[in-house]
Amino acid sequence: MIIVLIGPPGSGKGTQAKVLSEKYGLAHLSTGDMLRAAKQSGTLDPEFRAIMDSGGLLPDTAVIGLVARRTQEADCAGGFLLDGFPRTVPQAEALAAMLRERAAGSTTPAGVTAVLQLDVARELLEERIIHRRTDKETGQIYHLLYNPAPPGLMRDPGSLEHRKDDQPEAVKTRLDAYDSMTAALLPYYEERGLLRRVLGVGTPNEVTGRIVAVLEEK
Ligand code: AP5
Repeated sequence: MIIVLIGPPGSGKGTQAKVLSEKYGLAHLSTGDMLRAAKQSGTLDPEFRAIMDSGGLLPDTAVIGLVARRTQEADCAGGFLLDGFPRTVPQAEALAAMLRERAAGSTTPAGVTAVLQLDVARELLEERIIHRRTDKETGQIYHLLYNPAPPGLMRDPGSLEHRKDDQPEAVKTRLDAYDSMTAALLPYYEERGLLRRVLGVGTPNEVTGRIVAVLEEK
């Protein structure tokens, strides 16, 4: 299985990717997490760090290279779930080429299995993002109101991260980048019969149930 999760910032891609990758035994490839890890370790180009912090998208070539290398790692052999990639048509074309190359000379199917678009109204997204907190150690995603971290973590202010790009100005830039760039990707996958829209509103469990129903109807 090769699953692509698309959705605006705060739509629940990371939350759902964690559950689905465990359920289906897939590697979870989040370009946002990979870039934040590079930032944390000081290996991210300072120019890219500034783009990320302000909420803009990195150049296609930078993220394509990252994903191409990651998909060659052993844990991706049985399939993977992409969270936050592709975000543009050139990235989708690069992914298609990567998958053709990977399938050459083997029985592995040559393309994406399904593209799931999480649909959440913009008014709800800002509230979800501004109250997001992430466990620095495990990467577990919480929400101060809807899904608070366990009391031990809440009492330790250093254990939870409030992402730099979760500040209101950067959030607006990210939502605009989604509307102007990523939305162009939806017709690309729709024309190929791969796009499935899933309502991303309700509890995280309800959203997972809808995704599983879509994946298992295939
Ligand atoms: P990335 O990390 O991919 O950020 P994003 O797309 O903006 O998505 P988020 O992580 O904000 O949200 P999410 O959809 O994962 O939601 P979550 O599950 O956390 O990318 C960050 C940056 O990296 C980009 O801005 C760009 O600079 C760069 N980048 C990455 N990939 C790139 C690419 N391909 N090309 C170029 N640049 C790239 O949920 C959000 C909150 O809501 C949480 O608090 C959660 O607890 C809560 N929540 C989740 N589900 C529900 C629910 N059902 N009900 C209520 N609350 C919920």
